[in-house]
Amino acid sequence: MQKVKKAIIPAAGLGTRFLPATKAMPKEMLPIVDKPTIQYIVEEAIESGIEDIIIVTGKGKRAIEDHFDYALELEDNLVRKEKFDLLEKVRRSSQVDIHYIRQKEPKGLGHAIWCARKFIGNEPFAVLLGDDIVQAETPCLKQLTDLYEKVNSSVIGVQQVPKQETNRYGIIDPVKQDGRLYQVRNFVEKPAVEDAPSNVAIMGRYVLTPEIFDILEGQETGSGGEIQLTDAIQKLNGSQNVYAYDFEGIRYDVGEKFGFIKTTIEMALNRADLREDLLNYLQDVVEIQAVSKK
Ligand code: G1P
Repeated sequence: MQKVKKAIIPAAGLGTRFLPATKAMPKEMLPIVDKPTIQYIVEEAIESGIEDIIIVTGKGKRAIEDHFDYALELEDNLVRKEKFDLLEKVRRSSQVDIHYIRQKEPKGLGHAIWCARKFIGNEPFAVLLGDDIVQAETPCLKQLTDLYEKVNSSVIGVQQVPKQETNRYGIIDPVKQDGRLYQVRNFVEKPAVEDAPSNVAIMGRYVLTPEIFDILEGQETGSGGEIQLTDAIQKLNGSQNVYAYDFEGIRYDVGEKFGFIKTTIEMALNRADLREDLLNYLQDVVEIQAVSKK
């Protein structure tokens, strides 16, 4: 059995939910505290044993490539000023080997994944979506790759969501549950709330077998007029098992404004250098707001 060593990170989206911030800057570079969201994703991939990453980019995404490149002038400057802690942080993001390919047309997630087919070749691979950041003791993707090695089949990361939010996600129709593992009858992309077969949602982490590429090649457009990865997974599930795994950990949605703000606050609360000041500040804000409402 082959190990999962390659990962695709799609980053070609326009980031319209964050305009005007994303007019000239990729949404993947928006920072949570002091680290771009895409770096959290890259670090999770590496901590999960991924050796080669390909980022699928689009127009206006140059800053992502620069971020993961050496910054010699900046590094020299930090060395001269003996700011070694900052130097370490700057170097950290340039020590991974990342490959890039452009999605030339905005045809959806399924198409973005298909664009990386030549890089992946004939081996199992991971997909990590940049809108989902997961904090977990065992990195989320590692939980899925460990499971892949046991079942030798594709595994999709899922978690439950409130029923009224099912129309925002790929939703599974489970047949059987064994602990955290689901056997799945159907994968449905963004069903209407009343049609959702469950409240168990796909959360931006996938381990897939390469047969998905043949399916994506002929995949028709689906929800939102885009080529959907979920639709291709549904077809793959017809010829080989595709499992869903309810991974352990807290998942943050940084793809929309409120989720982004919540993530920023929670990540800052996890930081020893910020925690106390932030807690005091939040308490003050809550008190002032409560008084001003009276
Ligand atoms: C994508 C997938 C969807 C998944 C979601 C969250 O949708 O198509 O199946 O549930 O990410 O990871 P998007 O949020 O990009 O529209």
